[in-house]
Parts: sequence; C-alpha cells; structure tokens
Amino acid sequence: MKIVSVVGARPNFMKIAPFIRSIEDHNRNNPGKLIEHTLVHTGQHYDDRMSQAFFKALNIPAADINLGVGSGTHAEQVGYTMIEFEKVIKKINPDWVVVLGDVNATLACVITAKKDHIKCCHIEAGLRSGDMRMPEEINRVVTDRLSDLLLIPDELSGSNLKKEGVPDSAIKFVGNIMIDTMDANMDKAKELKIDEIIRLNSIRKDRGMSSVNHKQGEIDSFKEDYALLTLHRPSNVDNREILEPIVHFLCDEVAASMKLIWTVHPRTEKQLKKFYLWEKVFSNDNIILLYPINYHEMLRLNMNARLILTDSGGLQGESSVLGTTCITLRWNTEWTITLREKGGTSVLTGNDIEKIKGEFRKALTIKSKAFRPELWDGKTAQRCLNEIIEFDRRDE
Ligand code: UD1
Repeated sequence: MKIVSVVGARPNFMKIAPFIRSIEDHNRNNPGKLIEHTLVHTGQHYDDRMSQAFFKALNIPAADINLGVGSGTHAEQVGYTMIEFEKVIKKINPDWVVVLGDVNATLACVITAKKDHIKCCHIEAGLRSGDMRMPEEINRVVTDRLSDLLLIPDELSGSNLKKEGVPDSAIKFVGNIMIDTMDANMDKAKELKIDEIIRLNSIRKDRGMSSVNHKQGEIDSFKEDYALLTLHRPSNVDNREILEPIVHFLCDEVAASMKLIWTVHPRTEKQLKKFYLWEKVFSNDNIILLYPINYHEMLRLNMNARLILTDSGGLQGESSVLGTTCITLRWNTEWTITLREKGGTSVLTGNDIEKIKGEFRKALTIKSKAFRPELWDGKTAQRCLNEIIEFDRRDE
C-alpha cells in the first residue's frame, strides 16, 4: 500500500509524528505487507521555529518532498499547494492521501487528491466551530465532504458529520492523535527548566536586554505563578480596535498580578508593530516575550501555568488533559468537548474585554481538574492506521 501524508503548518507536525511511528511499527511487524510512505511538507510554515524545530524535537523524519509554498493569501497558499501537490500525486500514484487538521495544506491536498480519484483519509474529522468566517472551518467542512474515511477525535464530531449526511460506515471514532504525542513526550518535557526555556527563547535577550528580571542565583528556579499566552488568529490580531484593549488588559491587569509568558506568533509580532503596541508590551518587565517555542517547551510551560490564555485550537485539548485553566479568546470552538460544561478546563470569552477580565479573575480563585475524554489514551495513531487498512480490506 502506498500512503502519502501531508503536513503544512505548525499544528500538523505534532499530529503526524505518532502516525509515522505507527507505520514504522506496522512495517516492522508485517515485512510481507509493507506500507510505502511519503511525507509531503507544503512549506506553509517555513521558519525554523515554526517548522524544523518540531521535526527535530519530535524525531519526525525529514519530509520526502517540500512544496515550498510559503506565505501568501489563502488563495495563493491553496492554489500553489494544489499545483505542486498534483505533480506529486501524478508521480507517486498513492492508494491513500492522509491529511490532518484544518490548515490550508489539508484543504488543498484533499481537493487535488480527490480529483485524481485517490482515496482520502482525514484525521481529526468532524470538528465544527459553526463559524464559517474562520478559514479553518471552511477547510474542515470541505475536507470532510471530500474524504472517504473520516477519523474522529470525539463522539460530538461524529454527530456533526451525521447531521451533514455522512454515512456511518465512513466515520470511525479513533480519539485525539495529539494526545498520543503529549503522552509520549511528557517525561522529556518535565525535565526542562522554565528559566532555561525563557533564556533560550527570549526576544528581549536577543535584542540585548535581560531575558527575565531574576536575581542571579535564582536562575534555575522559576517558582512563581505565571500566566501563559498564545494569540495568533486574524480575528484577534488583525484589527486594532480588538488587539489594543487586549494588550491593555494583558499589561495592566494580568502582568500586574503575575508574570505573563507570551510566545509570540510571527503574525502577531507584525500586527503589534503595525499598531504601535509592541513598545508597550516590550517595555513591561512582567511580560516575558518568547519566540515561538518548540513542542516540549510549550508542554512544560502549560503543565506549570496558573492559567493559559489562548486562541489556539490544540491548546484547549492539551490544557484539559493537563488540568490547566484555559481562557479561550474565541467566540466558538470546534473542541466543544474541552469546555468546562463538558468536563474540560476551557471557557470561551471571545474578545469581549469584560468577559476576559471576569474569567481571568475567576481563574485566580479556582483550581481546574484534569479531564481526559474517551479514547484520548495515547493509542489513536495505531487506530488510525488500522482503520485505513480495514477500509481497504472491506473494499476488496
Ligand atoms: C496557520 C493555520 C492555523 C493554525 C496556525 C498555527 C491556516 C488557514 N491557518 O495560521 O489554523 O492555528 O497556522 O500557527 O492554515 N509566518 C512567518 N513564518 C512562518 C509562518 C508564517 O513569518 O513560518 C507569517 C506569514 O508571513 C504570515 C503569518 O505569519 O503573514 C501567518 O501565517 P499563515 O501560514 O498565513 O497562517 P497562520 O496564522 O500561521
């Protein structure tokens, strides 16, 4: 069997690692039924810190093919990926194309493969935020509509697909593949020292300033409470009227009560500078500004954070499993299962400053409990591969 799997942007990399490992295990145990695997990187994320660092940290073999697509508008990214991926498909003629998540690479490659009559499998299918203004939601809906095998992370995703008319036989409940990676890397993450993570990734230090206001001698003992922040969605960072009050809240309230560790996405740094907000953040001694950090570093910071503020998708799930209170700066989520009312640790605030403040204050008084949804057991990748093999067996 020939499988081509596709990654493009940061959230794909941690999902592909266990899938590749399950193919390697299969090949070791079934020398007569080898799976020929080709890993394609579309190149949507290309900075070392957004891409290569993850391959290295998670021992992902270098991509066999890099399409070199880079930055651009959505149409440019999807268009260039389709043009280049079509060449790959023609050359390899795989039995399956496996795509993950909801990034532009996912959409572009599934359309291309399907038009060439290649079977498509979507890992992390069925997630819906219900918000068609989110580029990722468009990517999810189209990808699921075109995929032959839909591997879902939770039962709610199965209900979403059934409502859209997907037949039961195409939907398989496998659990959350990101948790495979989390479980496998927990011990390594625990060994990291927070001060060291800050020292290695500090934006301030890089620009000739002290990375963190610690006294010498305390350098390996970051014992303080801290909030962790990631922010990159266009809906939060592309508009000054939205970003400015968030920045004021972060500087005047969060950083006034504890240290704030902010891992800055390239898009966000550009926008902060454009709106002349960078100086305010940069000059606040209680805000620790970091470049995008690698997988283990983020896991380590999440484990120990007093709370996390984020607009990421994946961090909601990881925070729930770790038991970190998660204030999600989005109006909706595709990860409904991680919400507090479902047993998780996440709460939605959108970008309503009063709501964010209210939840922040509440978070200071509560302690969240870890929550692991069904089949988020670290064995999802194996089930994904089994379902692909089983699909072909049924088809024969
Ligand atoms: C993408 C995904 C999003 C995911 C996010 C995680 C889509 C539609 N969006 O959004 O689902 O949550 O990745 O990071 O696929 N840039 C760099 N270096 C890089 C990559 C990007 O400087 O390595 C800059 C680009 O110039 C661009 C901006 O960051 O201006 C945004 O990159 P882009 O790939 O368009 O989308 P993300 O916002 O990262």
